[in-house]
Amino acid sequence: MSKFLNVLFFSSMLMTACSEKTLTPECNLIPYPNHLATSQGEFKITSNVKLNFPENADDASMQVINNFIRNLQSVADVKLISDVAAQKSREISFVNNPELGKEEYKISIQPDKVLVQAATANGFFYATLTLKQMLPLAVYGSEAKPQENWSLPCVEIQDKPRFEYRGMHLDVSRHFFSKEEVKRYIDIMAAYKLNKFHWHLTDDQGWRIEIKKYPELTSIGGIRKKTMIKKDWDNYDHTPYGGFYTQDEIREIVQYASDRFITVIPEIDLPGHMMAALASYPSLGCVGKDYEVSGQWGVRDDVLCVGKESTFDFIENVLTEVVDLFPSEYIHIGGDECPKVRWEKCPTCQKKIKELRIKGDEKHKPEHYLQSYVISRVEKFLNAKGRRIIGWDEILEGGLAPNATVMSWRGMDGGIEAARQGNDVIMTPSSHLYFDHYQSNDTENEPFSIGGCSPVERVYSFEPVAPVLTPEESKHILGTQANLWTEYIPSVDQLHYQLLPRLAALSEVQWTNPESKSWERFINNLDRETKMYDMLGYNYAQHIYEIQGEYIVNNKEKGVTAKLVTMGDAPIYYTTDGTTPTEKSQLYTEPILINESCTLQAVTKRNDKLSRVLNKGFKFNKATGNKVSFNVAPNPKYTYKGATALVDGIRGDFNYANGCWLGYENIPLDVNIGFYEPTELSSVKIGSLVQFGEYVFPPTKLTVYGANENGTFEQLGETQIPMTTSEDKDGLYEYTCEFPAFKTKELRVVVDPVSSIPDWHGARGEKAFIFVDEIIVD
Ligand code: ACM
Ligand code: ZN
Repeated sequence: MSKFLNVLFFSSMLMTACSEKTLTPECNLIPYPNHLATSQGEFKITSNVKLNFPENADDASMQVINNFIRNLQSVADVKLISDVAAQKSREISFVNNPELGKEEYKISIQPDKVLVQAATANGFFYATLTLKQMLPLAVYGSEAKPQENWSLPCVEIQDKPRFEYRGMHLDVSRHFFSKEEVKRYIDIMAAYKLNKFHWHLTDDQGWRIEIKKYPELTSIGGIRKKTMIKKDWDNYDHTPYGGFYTQDEIREIVQYASDRFITVIPEIDLPGHMMAALASYPSLGCVGKDYEVSGQWGVRDDVLCVGKESTFDFIENVLTEVVDLFPSEYIHIGGDECPKVRWEKCPTCQKKIKELRIKGDEKHKPEHYLQSYVISRVEKFLNAKGRRIIGWDEILEGGLAPNATVMSWRGMDGGIEAARQGNDVIMTPSSHLYFDHYQSNDTENEPFSIGGCSPVERVYSFEPVAPVLTPEESKHILGTQANLWTEYIPSVDQLHYQLLPRLAALSEVQWTNPESKSWERFINNLDRETKMYDMLGYNYAQHIYEIQGEYIVNNKEKGVTAKLVTMGDAPIYYTTDGTTPTEKSQLYTEPILINESCTLQAVTKRNDKLSRVLNKGFKFNKATGNKVSFNVAPNPKYTYKGATALVDGIRGDFNYANGCWLGYENIPLDVNIGFYEPTELSSVKIGSLVQFGEYVFPPTKLTVYGANENGTFEQLGETQIPMTTSEDKDGLYEYTCEFPAFKTKELRVVVDPVSSIPDWHGARGEKAFIFVDEIIVD
């Protein structure tokens, strides 16, 4: 084939190659480009290759290109030539192409030439990142490695991001990360072409940004006296913990990020999550005394007193310094989780409500409208300084500030509502994009996670534009971001473990169009990424190399079918007799039927090493494997595969979002269990999870009904469960209802929740959940 034909052939192949998701070992790109076609051959990087720089390029573009060339020459140990006398037979050219978009680039690689085109430094930066991903991993090191294969695969790429906002968040209040650690975080973000770093700088547990006008924010508010130990809410280490960034350090980090085309968006969380500020300047609060930087996680009742004008002086003075430090157009002002109990009792706040003629209505209390007033007022202040605000989705309550961008975290609904109102939205739903969540159901091996479950597949599967939005409304979805809260993450190794490889998955959600995404291609490409993490010393989660289990109730066999999978074709070995599996154990070839109590254990083998053991216990009772159906459906977020979770013989643990627990918000659990033949029963027990901080309460009543010979249900028994008090503890509980032996083919089980969160709790009056994992019938 002539070269001319070759070019034609490949340009016509662009679309098909992309949609067929060609797997080429040399193109393990993440995030995957939006148009890519490979061909045979490679461009060898050797000395004397002619180097052409763009004409009229700006300094920033030249800096990006020069950095890349310098890096390449040192690791490949070659000397590229840019003077006219150089041989022209092979060349690398960087060309300014003003027709491309701000973040767009093109790369064309043929055996004798590499052509890189962009319109801006951003585009050249992304092009060089893509080039680096096609070179040997040694490109990320600093040593000369001439023995590596320094060549680029022949490929045609035209690429630009799907979303303009591609963010990652970091909470440095709950745990502090040093300037250098933050820079590493930015490096990792940059490698995946993210462009927004949301820096959560203040919270109840520590104020981390130097404010010259209020030095005590860091000297007092930057240090907590104690920290709760693990997940024990009443047990503290009594060790002071602190840290903050000076304004010089902040400027340095902002510049460092900017050099990598990342904008730093600072967050000053207000009017709630302000204990550190209240401890520093008690007059900022409604009560005005006895504040302490929190050593406990969760939400505090004490918030800024917004009845006082002096509080607004404080906010404006702080934000004035923040605006001076951060060139970002967006400033995040929080707005989340602000209890209203202090405002309800505070004469100054109540006076303000009267002054503003605020009235409550059926939708919101007056205090919600007061919060809305605060956010709008702060927005006006920042708008006047040429900045825009972002707030968490609570800023919708009581009316959205006119120009605010909403960060939708409690699901997609807040973002959908804001987009429909014509406001911009960043989607960060905790259901998919909270990187403090578990990465598998194997919670014992995940000590740093707070709760929830967002494995890498779930992150990858996230679609930021809800299908219910019209094309016009969809334009308001600026992009998406994952959040990394650090309550249980005291070290940078643990931080990286929560971040990687989920950040790689996030980057494709942000950059790659849905038609170019492919989970199979992505996990194949991850292999190179994990080698890079190893090389750079980044800790990461290894679940993709372990075994994932799926357990499906099998009514026909009155058991549970266990399906085991792992990445690629690595063999899986298993046991069900309690012994630890080895490569001499049974080889897994098809789904396993479990029809009695046992422990399923499995390992896989990769590179001559056995993986961690998957360990799943099954405890059978008279209901296990039988038919079960909902009379009342659970909350859709906590329904998973449905009612069969209650009869699969699998018990849940402290992670309420791993699929074991069905969650009901303010409504009863109400199910029927059908038996194949009349079965004699005398007790029903339920497993229940209690996590008061997450609004998960014990039920109040368990009632059991049985169908008699006529098929009519009669009540067999009822167990009242005492109301909770502030003395009660989180944990896994069981409640039993016993009754005289009864033979039946069908049972109905009803579990009632509390009517609302009781007065002793910070969220008094709000809706409460019950979570049930199993119905045990004997
Ligand atoms: C949040 O997670 N409180 C925004
Ligand atoms: Zn007040």
